[in-house]
Amino acid sequence: MKKHSVLFVCLGNICRSPLGEGIFAHLVHERGLEGQFEIDSAGTGAWHVGKQPDERSIEIAKKHGIDLTGQRARQVSEQDFYRFDTIIAMDRSNLKNLRKIEPKDGTATLQLMLPDGGDVPDPYYGGRDGFADVFTMVERACTSLLNKLAAQH
Ligand code: 4NP
Repeated sequence: MKKHSVLFVCLGNICRSPLGEGIFAHLVHERGLEGQFEIDSAGTGAWHVGKQPDERSIEIAKKHGIDLTGQRARQVSEQDFYRFDTIIAMDRSNLKNLRKIEPKDGTATLQLMLPDGGDVPDPYYGGRDGFADVFTMVERACTSLLNKLAAQH
C-alpha cells in the first residue's frame, strides 16, 4: 500500500512544526503504523535552514519521551506540493503563504493543524509555558489527524 505522506509547516521550522513532526511520528510509532506514513516538517521562511529545533521545543518534547534533536530546519518548496499527500499549516498566516507558492497542479491537500480553524500560536518570542501549550494543542490535533488518516487506510 502506498504510504500517506504528511508535511507539517510553520514559519521558521524550529518551534511548532518540529513538534508536529515529532509528535505525529511518536503516535504513529505507538500504534505500530510506521510502514504507512512518511512524515516531515518545513518552514515558509528560510532564516533557520539547517538548524536544530529551538531548545525549548526539544525540551518539552523530551519531557514527553520524544527526541527532536535529529531534525534540521528546511524551507518548504514547490516540490513539496507534489511529494506530500497532506500539508498541515500551524496557523492561518502559514496557510496563506503556502497558498501563494502552491503550484496550480499541486496534488497535496492543504489544511490547518487545528480542526476548529484557529491558530497554533507562535511561541518563539514567549516563555517556556507557550511551548507547553503548543505541545498540548499539537498533540491533541495530531491524535485526531492520525485517527482520521488511519481510518482512510
Ligand atoms: P516557528 O516559530 O514558526 O514555530 O518555528 C518561529 C521561529 C522563528 C521565527 C519566527 C517564528 N523568527 O522570526 O525567527
